[in-house]
Amino acid sequence: MLSDVDVNVNVKIDAMGAADIPAVVALGSGATTGQLQEELTRPWALCFVARDSSARVIGFVLTWHVTDELHILDVVVEAELRRRGIGRALMQHALTRARERSAVHVYLEVRRGNAAAIRLYRALGFFTLAVRKKYYPDGEDAIEMAARMDPDTGQIMPGRDEVNPEHV
Ligand SMILES: CC(C)(COP(=O)(O)OP(=O)(O)OC[C@H]1O[C@@H](n2cnc3c(N)ncnc32)[C@H](O)[C@@H]1OP(=O)(O)O)[C@@H](O)C(=O)NCCC(=O)NCCS
Repeated sequence: MLSDVDVNVNVKIDAMGAADIPAVVALGSGATTGQLQEELTRPWALCFVARDSSARVIGFVLTWHVTDELHILDVVVEAELRRRGIGRALMQHALTRARERSAVHVYLEVRRGNAAAIRLYRALGFFTLAVRKKYYPDGEDAIEMAARMDPDTGQIMPGRDEVNPEHV
């Protein structure tokens, strides 16, 4: 399904196809060609790309949907086009598509030092669940975050932080 997005650039979001993989790798999320090819074979993987008016890939989100849970594995926007609402639009698109498949609980991990991503998730209504010490190979902690969608409306329901990462 394709969706038009009201952001500061003319953006369309649709499902990632095999032809998009080189452009997604070039966005620099760290995902390799092989990993992305594998995602396309997984029935539970929902991958979307944001395209500019020339259909060039400028953003990407990778999620896994399992029963009533959605896991956000990656979201990345081209460096020069950040802070224009594209990351938020990709996240909202993924949440909407997952809700259509009955997802309610949404989970993700983010680096403790990734202030931009944490602000984005907070703006969407995510709350903290836990801190995973030295989760990443370079030793940085992960903050585990969650959100809950109202099964009827799809709105993110208010949630409270279960840990304060400053104190963990
Ligand atoms: C995280 C990322 C995807 C955000 O994409 P984006 O298109 O720039 O985000 P948006 O413009 O939709 O921002 C939505 C909100 O998130 C917050 N936000 C996003 N970037 C921010 C920044 N650099 N500093 C502070 N807040 C930020 C703001 O609340 C923003 O709303 P506002 O602009 O109205 O204040 C982008 O910074 C990125 O690609 N980072 C590198 C990859 C990455 O770290 N991904 C996360 C992996 S867990």
